[in-house]
Amino acid sequence: MAGRRTFTMIKPEAVAAGHAGKILDLIISRGFRIVAMKYTRLSHKEAGAFYAVHQERPFYGELVDYMASGPIYAAILEKDNAVEDFRKLVGATDPANAEAGTIRKQFAESKAKNAVHGSDSDDNALIEGHFFFSSRECY
Ligand code: CMP
Repeated sequence: MAGRRTFTMIKPEAVAAGHAGKILDLIISRGFRIVAMKYTRLSHKEAGAFYAVHQERPFYGELVDYMASGPIYAAILEKDNAVEDFRKLVGATDPANAEAGTIRKQFAESKAKNAVHGSDSDDNALIEGHFFFSSRECY
């Protein structure tokens, strides 16, 4: 059975551009409940660890530099079928391929600076949520 929680980050360029409020409004209006949230900044080391799964990819260095470049919002979200439904709302990695109405279509700058992260599986949602939050920060 699909899980009820996913993990998201509003990434540095979207925060710097002032899009965080509109993105959160969209997420909530689509039926996601915020279980935990924080405004924080990843160190270079933390960004590298979070995205370690991509360390063999050619864009890994760029990705880590970018994710450590400024503050982000990190959040755990809850809804039936959370991972799949949130990925639909987020849209394709490259905003040029994202459907109308998706977060990336509206707010992403590029494939690299793509506004938000969304977990790609229930297992990763759990791992990523634990990366940022303890159980006493989840409500
Ligand atoms: P995200 O969903 O956070 O997961 C991995 C991230 O790597 C992705 O969003 C993008 O920010 C980044 N990414 C994926 N593909 C590329 C690429 N070809 N060039 C640069 N960055 C990329």
